[in-house]
Amino acid sequence: MNSLLICPVCKSPLTENEKNYTCQNGHNFDKAKQGYVNLLMSSKQGVHGDDKLMVNARRLFLEKGYYAPMREAVAKILGEGNTVLDAGCGEGYYTSVFAENNKVYGIDISKEALKAASRRCKNASFAVASIYELPFADDSFDACVNIFAPDSPSEYLRILKKGGRLIMVTPMEEHLMELKNAVYTTPYKNSFVDPERIGFDIVSSRELKYTVTLESNEEIVSLFCMTPYYYNTSPSDRQKLDALEKLTTKVEFLITEYQKN
Ligand SMILES: C[S@@+](CC[C@H](N)C(=O)[O-])C[C@H]1O[C@@H](n2cnc3c(N)ncnc32)[C@H](O)[C@@H]1O
Ligand SMILES: [Zn+2]
Repeated sequence: MNSLLICPVCKSPLTENEKNYTCQNGHNFDKAKQGYVNLLMSSKQGVHGDDKLMVNARRLFLEKGYYAPMREAVAKILGEGNTVLDAGCGEGYYTSVFAENNKVYGIDISKEALKAASRRCKNASFAVASIYELPFADDSFDACVNIFAPDSPSEYLRILKKGGRLIMVTPMEEHLMELKNAVYTTPYKNSFVDPERIGFDIVSSRELKYTVTLESNEEIVSLFCMTPYYYNTSPSDRQKLDALEKLTTKVEFLITEYQKN
């Protein structure tokens, strides 16, 4: 079966077989038992992305549905019948819904995330790969979605067809402010990022803001572990979360839809 994936060695198209992907030059990439394929070249194998703890934390938190309104909003913008790349798809919470009505590929640099994504979502194709070197030919996709994943402007421009759409979801200034208040003495707001990008026109820009109330310490810690603060917080600041059993916090998403010009 033809695939949109290309060989990371010689860049020719990959054919998907039951147990592996192969290219015309004899390069062969076995599928893992969960179904994803690892296309990271050996020089990049040391880069792991999110670890098991973060992946499990995100899965636990997202499955409670706190971010479901954002998922619905993105799915609506995406529509149906498109070839879609979910760049930095994590464990597939969003990918699985996009794949109900579209032909979807999910890539992520974290093997742990893709194990979970492949189990969750059987009707999308998943590959371990870097956002900065996407394993797809130029002009391959109708749409690319990036939800809280690292940005890669030139690669998104390259892999989208002319007229193709990029949908970016980024945190706004006060996203999770009360979670930060609970941990830090002087929490900073997120910085404003200029949405303009080379090669794209902005089609729409939507702010989605609401509050969520987390009802257990497990949920609060899970939310914390899926944020970048997890890496950057001292053990003593982290301990402040241990006593919290309930937390109401703002969530603020900016959903920007671009079109490749
Ligand atoms: C904050 S998570 C978002 C995951 C998912 N989109 C979601 O919102 O649930 C960021 C994801 O980007 C992945 N990631 C980080 N660096 C990456 C890279 N260079 N290439 C591909 N994925 C990367 C991480 O492994 C992680 O799954
Ligand atoms: Zn090859």
